[in-house]
Parts: sequence; C-alpha cells; structure tokens
Amino acid sequence: MKTVLTGKKILFGITGSIAVYKAAEWVRELTKAEAQVTVVMTEAATRFVSSLTIAALSGRRVYTGMFEPDAGEEMTHISLARESDLFIIAPATAQSIAKLAYGFADDLLSTLVLANHAKVLVFPAMNSSMYCHAATKANLTRLQEYGYGVIEPEQGKLACGDEGIGRLVDWERARESILSAFADQDFAEQTILITAGPTWESFDPARHMSNRSSGKMGYSLARVAKRRGARVILVSGPSAIEPPPGVEIINIVSAQQMHDAVMEHYSSADIVVMAAAVSDYRPGKTMEQKIKKGGKSIDLELVPNPDILKKLGQKKKRAEQALLVGFAAESRHHIEEGQRKLKEKNLDLIVINDIIGKDTGFGADTNRVSLIDRDYQLEKLPLLSKEECADMILDKIVKLLQ
Ligand code: CTP
Repeated sequence: MKTVLTGKKILFGITGSIAVYKAAEWVRELTKAEAQVTVVMTEAATRFVSSLTIAALSGRRVYTGMFEPDAGEEMTHISLARESDLFIIAPATAQSIAKLAYGFADDLLSTLVLANHAKVLVFPAMNSSMYCHAATKANLTRLQEYGYGVIEPEQGKLACGDEGIGRLVDWERARESILSAFADQDFAEQTILITAGPTWESFDPARHMSNRSSGKMGYSLARVAKRRGARVILVSGPSAIEPPPGVEIINIVSAQQMHDAVMEHYSSADIVVMAAAVSDYRPGKTMEQKIKKGGKSIDLELVPNPDILKKLGQKKKRAEQALLVGFAAESRHHIEEGQRKLKEKNLDLIVINDIIGKDTGFGADTNRVSLIDRDYQLEKLPLLSKEECADMILDKIVKLLQ
C-alpha cells in the first residue's frame, strides 16, 4: 500500500552512540515503508554496528568516508545532499551536535548537512549530564535557529547506568516526527479538542454498562492532527490504545466526567471533535457494594446523561466560537439520521459511521464514512484506514475554517 513515505529519499546520518542499534531498527522500518534510505555513518558509529548490517537493512550502499573510491564523477556529498527529501540524524551525540552547531565540515556527515537543502531532524542521545550541560543546550538552540527539528530524548535508564533524560526516543515517537516533517502544518495555529472511546456507567464496584467503541477513530484523529501541527487535547474514555506522542491526554471513565472535562477545556479550543461513543444513559443509582444474585428479576433504573455536543451547539452563537464536529454512529437511515443530528446539535460537520458494515465501525482498523457539512453538502468517502479517514476529515475542517 502506498504511504506518505513511499519513494521518499531520506538521508540518514548515524553518529557514534550505543543507541546505534535502535537507529538500525528505524532504517529497517523506513525501508519497509518503501522510503529510499541512504545511510551515512561516522567512523565512531561503525564501531557500534557495522556498515554491512546497515547496508543489509536499507538494501543500499552505506557511506562512511569523504573520499569513497567509487564515488564517480560527482562529489559524493553534493550529489547525496541534492537528492534528499529529509535528513535524519539519529542518534546524534553531543559531539556531532556541537559540530553541526558550529558548521564544521570535517567528515562526510557534517559536510552533507551543510550541503543539504531538505528539512533536518536531529534525535539526540547521550548521558543526561551531557544533555543537560549548558553547552549542549546552547548548541541545540542554535540548531533550532537554523530551522532543524530537535526531538527531545526520553527519560529512563541509560547505557552508562544513570537514570535520567538522554535515551533515544522509541520508533513510535520518531515515526510521528518523520511523518510530521512531510505533513502540511495547516493546524499549527489551532487547538483541537477531541473525545474518543466509550464511557463506562457503573452499577456497582464490579459492573458497568458501556458500548463497543475501541477509541481507534478518535485516537487516529488526535495523532494526525498532532502531525499536522495542532495542539491536541484528547479526552478519552477507557481504551487500550497508547496515546499518540505529544498529545495532552485527559482520561475519564463516565459520560459525566467526559462532560466536565470537555466543558473545562472547551474555551481554549478552536475545534471540537466529538468522536466518543458517549453512553446516553447511566444507572439511576450506583451501589457502593456489589449487587448480590437473587432468584428474581430486578429492575434497574436508567437516567439520561447530558448530551455534551448538543450543549456545545446551544452555546455556539458567535462565528468565532469553536467549530463543532460530531459523529453519528448508525445502523440504518444513516444520512437522514446524520442530517437530523447536524441540525439538532447545531454542528458545522457530522461524520456518519456505519457501525454494522463490513470493515467499518467499532474496533475495525478501517472506516467508510460520509460527511455532511453545515450547508448540507454530502461527501461519501471510500473505505480507508482510520488514519487516512482522519486526514480527510481534517481536510474538510480546514475548508470549513476558511
Ligand atoms: N454525544 C454527546 N453526548 C451524548 C451522546 C452523544 O456529546 N450524551 C455526541 C457523540 O459524541 C457524537 C454525537 O453526539 O458526536 C452523536 O452521537 P450518537 O450516539 O450517534 O447519537 P445520539 O445523539 O446519542 O442519538 P441516538 O442515540 O438517538 O442515535
């Protein structure tokens, strides 16, 4: 399947740190995603992992020296730099960061960085004292001033035995930074509040009622919005999915808690997307002790939960208030129901989800949705991955914001 990375020419600089083995995995992942990954290793990097290993993982020749014997007529550094769409440096040691900050060109990698025109992403990895040293901090600030992306390392146990900041980020985080480098930053000025997942409504300490929402669609929206530069606040019901990197997550359990979290953060949002499957009802009473089995049937009263989106729609009077996007989870009369909810909840856009269709709805990795905007324009999207679907929904939101 074609992805954003298919055919992209990535220059991948590896410098000498124990974290080289992790970078080797990234080379493999990028190559698997059909990017053309050309690796340049410093001499120190080849002491940790051989260039042969990296060449096997990338399926391409690995460059290590300025004066390669078979570089041909063109200067290696100029031709490699001219062709790249993105330049990644991972792991970036304190030494290599210092060299880049001062524009040294004393090996192939540092020379290539100077000759390069593509976006540069630097992934530092080192001992935490080295990372926190004023000299390293100042050097990283310089790199940012040059327009390079600097991805802060993680906290954790370091190779030297210390505990602290300095670990090379994991692939998941790196992947997001790389995809973000290729994405339009059309949400850079926007704060987007997204709800996701189901809510749980408790009967007693052991039992609740809920629905089959996995949270995948809302989490995909959060991930893609973050990639496109947004500040993302994700209010999530119970879900097994890891929150996307860089997203502000607020975990809630019940519809009432989701209501309170949304109302608290609503005013700072430019866009609200209610992708959560909110329980319409909750038990009238939550028992403190477990309900015991008896021979007879029991009646449990259910009372309505607040309709969060409807309340936001009622508040929406002025044009400068947040753009409202709802979801409609439907098993029949999809379009009619979508139109009804769009009007009743005073929305700018509604995304209609077929919850019983093949490959769509709860738990699936794909979705086929229809969009109806505030002018009742209908757009039917094909079967897409939930991330692709999220991208198309965000494209529509961009148009509505204009
Ligand atoms: N929603 C909400 N608060 C609720 C129920 C729903 O904010 N108590 C939001 C959902 O997050 C979704 C939209 O309203 O964005 C429509 O939800 P849906 O469950 O499809 O419809 P309902 O309004 O609950 O109507 P019905 O149950 O009759 O289909």
